This record gives sequence, C-alpha cells and structure tokens, in this order.
Amino acid sequence: MHLVTLKDWTNTQLQETVDECLKIKNHPEKYRHSAEALSLGLLFQKTSTRTRCAGEIGIVQLGGHAQYLDWRSTNFGIADLSDEIRVLSAYVDIILARFLKHDDMLDAANAATVPIINGCCDKYHPTQAVGDLMTIQEHLGRLDGVKVCFVGVHNNVCNSLIAAGSKLGLEVTVIAPEKNPAAIDKDLLSEAEQKGCYKPVDTESLDNIQKLQEIINECDVVYTDTWVDMEFFTDPDFASERKRRIDMMMPYQLNSTLLNGIDCRIMHCLPAHRGYEIHGDLMDDPRSVIFEQSENRLHSMKAIMLNLLSQS
Ligand code: CP
Ligand code: NVA
Repeated sequence: MHLVTLKDWTNTQLQETVDECLKIKNHPEKYRHSAEALSLGLLFQKTSTRTRCAGEIGIVQLGGHAQYLDWRSTNFGIADLSDEIRVLSAYVDIILARFLKHDDMLDAANAATVPIINGCCDKYHPTQAVGDLMTIQEHLGRLDGVKVCFVGVHNNVCNSLIAAGSKLGLEVTVIAPEKNPAAIDKDLLSEAEQKGCYKPVDTESLDNIQKLQEIINECDVVYTDTWVDMEFFTDPDFASERKRRIDMMMPYQLNSTLLNGIDCRIMHCLPAHRGYEIHGDLMDDPRSVIFEQSENRLHSMKAIMLNLLSQS
C-alpha cells in the first residue's frame, strides 16, 4: 500500500488518518515508540522545507530513523530509477519521495517493495491535503459540507484538495483562470464534480471583483498557492511565462480588500510569495491559519507513515 494519490485510499482510511493526526498532535508522547527501529528514506528531486522536515523529524519523533537522499549526490540521477528504488526498499521500511514528474512517481511506486509516499509531484500533493483536512477539522470541527474556495492556478495542491474533498465531503470551488497542464486529471475532476465536491468557476464570467467577492463570501475557507511551481521559479526559460502569469493573476490576489468583512479561514500550503498570490498582511490576519496548517504537516505526516506501516 502506497500513497501516490488520495484516489488510491478508501474514505475510511483517509478519515481514520485525519482522526489520528489530531490524536498525535494532542498526545505526541504516546507515539514515541510507534515506529521504533524503523527507517524512512527521503528522496527529493526538488526543494522542500515542510515535507522534508515533516518526514525527517516525524519519523525520529516516532522512535525511528531518517535517511535523506539528495537526487544529485546519490546515484539515482545516473541509474535506472526502478533499480535504485528496489535497492532502497531493502534498506528502509518506508519511502517519502518528491519527483518532478508524476510518471516517475508511478515507476517508483511499481518498483518499491515498501510503502512509498508521494511528497509532491507535478500532479498531486496528497500529504499536503491530509494536513489540510486535519487543519479544517481542527478549526471547524467538521469536514462534511465545509465550503472551500481555492483561488489561484489549478495545480498539484488544488488537485489533492479536490481529491480529499471528494472523499470526505468538502465542497471545493475553484477560481483558476490558469491550469498547470501537468496537473489536469479529468477523471478526478469529473467524479468530484458529479458528487458536488468540485465546483469550477468560469473565470471569463468574473468580469469584476464584486463577483469574485460574492463567491468567496459563501466560503468557510479560502485557499491559495503559488502561481508558479517551485521548479520553474528560477528557470530562465520560464521568465516570460512567469511575467504573463503575474499580470493575469494579480486581480485574483488574496488581500484585505478582497476579504474585507468575510468570515472565513485563510489557508496557504506555503511557501508563499507575499505580494503575489497573497498580500503579506493576510498571512498574519486573525483569520489566517496558515502557520498552524504548516505545523500540522508534521503531525499529519506521522499519521500517514503509521497508517502505511501498519499495513505493510
Ligand atoms: N507545502 C509544502 O509542501 O512545502 P515544501 O515544498 O517546503 O515541502
Ligand atoms: N504547487 C507548488 C507548491 C507545493 C508545495 C509547487 O508545486 O511548487
């Protein structure tokens, strides 16, 4: 059993994991030996602060051991991925991997003989979504029927939020004039839409800020993420695309004007780019749960690892 995408998990498995996240957060001392003598291998092709720390520190707090493997300083970059994953599986009990491409994630999952967790690829970010569910449950006391509005570029984080919502009853409205081509999962979106858990907004019809505001006004949670994925941030070949996106997306920035008087929780998976997808003031607004959401990545990663280890 892996966690490549939340689509692979049952609703029960996801709900039980979310419940476990909160138990771990409230009583971490009870879990100090839960993964005693077990090892987590972390393999990262891309940069990371939260996901890496959640895995690396989380497994140690559970009594286990972490081994971080950087793509460039190991032989993953010069060898067959499946061979190297098979080898790594013999050394560790569970793997957390961040790949650029979802296809590599799938190849790794096919080759792994221990559970492997998708630590974010271009299509999905399932561990983020589990932490997000935990944060919503913690703040609102429920998941079913919670109205989440994602404003930004339809990307990996948006996809996993929809997948999570589709399983546990969130209603995710998406206001995204731009979609990352690699992130599109038509099956996921059509299934979630049929269940009423995904509501795409036709941004062509949002001809003024008032309409955007009216939609957000109905939400319990407003969520955004970066307009450009991390691997393209400093890519010189992406410079003109970055500028095009910034010009197009600025009217969709979360700021105090847009959220004026709106009773909602503000979420962002981080890293944030203050002044772009979100104004800095909102990060520290009383309605912001962004830094608790970030802390919850640690507790939720522990719950994800324990769930997968218990089945292996
Ligand atoms: N939210 C998130 O996944 O952050 P990192 O890229 O720092 O891991
Ligand atoms: N969607 C962004 C942030 C993920 C944490 C990315 O892929 O870089």
